[in-house]
Amino acid sequence: MPETARPQQTGAPARKENIAMRLVRGEILHFFSDPGDDSGAQRAQTAFRHHADGGLLVGGGRIAFCGDWADALAAAPAGTPVDDHGGRLLLPGFVDTHVHYPQTDIIGSPGKDLLDWLDRYTFPAERPFGDEAVAAGTAEFFCDELLRNGTTTALVFGTVHPQSVDAFFRVAQRRELRMVAGKVMMDRHCPAYLRDTAQSSYDDSRRLIERWHGADRLRYAITPRFAITSSDAQLQAAGTLAREFPTVALHSHVAESRAEVDRVRELYPQARSYLDVYDRFGLLRRPAVYAHCIYLDAQDRRRMAGCGTAAAFSPTSNLFLGSGLFDLRQALDDGVTVGVATDVGGGTSFSMLRTLAAARQVSQLNGYPLPALRAFWLATLSGAVALGLDDCIGNFAEGKEADFVVLDPQATPLLARRMARAQTLEERLFLWMTLGDDRSVSATYIRGRCRWQRDAGAPQVHLR
Ligand code: GUN
Ligand code: ZN
Repeated sequence: MPETARPQQTGAPARKENIAMRLVRGEILHFFSDPGDDSGAQRAQTAFRHHADGGLLVGGGRIAFCGDWADALAAAPAGTPVDDHGGRLLLPGFVDTHVHYPQTDIIGSPGKDLLDWLDRYTFPAERPFGDEAVAAGTAEFFCDELLRNGTTTALVFGTVHPQSVDAFFRVAQRRELRMVAGKVMMDRHCPAYLRDTAQSSYDDSRRLIERWHGADRLRYAITPRFAITSSDAQLQAAGTLAREFPTVALHSHVAESRAEVDRVRELYPQARSYLDVYDRFGLLRRPAVYAHCIYLDAQDRRRMAGCGTAAAFSPTSNLFLGSGLFDLRQALDDGVTVGVATDVGGGTSFSMLRTLAAARQVSQLNGYPLPALRAFWLATLSGAVALGLDDCIGNFAEGKEADFVVLDPQATPLLARRMARAQTLEERLFLWMTLGDDRSVSATYIRGRCRWQRDAGAPQVHLR
């Protein structure tokens, strides 16, 4: 049985009117802007809020109040049920800004490099997704895996088959997840069994947009796979869709490996750069997310910053495929919006905590010791900005949707032992991103309801 809030005392803040309310207690951290590199600086102090003993009051699936526990309790109607996560950390749900749900079953496949891995593992794995039962079964597993890892929003690749996106959205809708997804557009340089045409990709994408964009918490992303696998005519069709549907997202890959960049230069010799290929077809704007962005130049970064096009930093994928080291500091210094991405199945983990560990390693190799506070901003609010969803998710501002994750500092014996010795918030966050993984996620809430809970020793998904 949950605890309940006690009756109101005189002098307490005005109570919120909503009978379907819930109080959630725990340590709370959330962000309002980029904390930068120095947690002691003025910039950092205004960038985040931290409540050592905090309370979230949720009602109607949204945040009604976030603050110190005593104030949250005072704001709650008498009898409001309480979920007590005392000693654990509540964060806004993680935002995975680039992931392929159909690649769940090829995670950890040993390709030699990106193009070899695509040919040998990825394209064959995507073939069966024309079968809606296969697609739905994989989507169910994928969405459960996101919840187990505290990821509440993702920007998701389907396959070339429109059924793959119908199945994904149906599964996400049943779980009330805020998801953005799209059908791959791909009409050349891939196996014939995965090829669409410029016209069919336009027609299928348009039908999916009309059916799903804005349905409950779902949004659509126009999804040309990358410049190698789309003809001029298909990128033109993607640009036409983008003009016709200005609130729909754009989602693709850019400048991931040297061999890929060389191939794009051969295919599009008239373009100034790989990014410029997309720009010429009207495919840069906000929201638009391009995965990898490793081999960009200053002009590309200026262009992205100027139009709000975001980069999805995919460090486990970039290390696994040997693609290269994304220069995070340069991108942030140049004003590019950056999100963090697992990029499963090129990426090696669904865990955004494991992904932050790799982000730190890649940054270290580039001479930039990424602070944990900034890393958690990237994985939450900055991801929401990248997807154009920061008006409804990304932090605990009043009125936002109540998607959040509960992290357990005692999740493993080592984590518990090490946490006991950490002195500062930065040190504790750093431990979570260095030692944490799916075991650290003790609960995941969607619209204020607990949809995943790790019971002692017996992980299970509870769809309530
Ligand atoms: N470039 C084109 N397609 C893909 C893909 O499926 N994964 C990755 N990592 N890069 C790509
Ligand atoms: Zn990818």
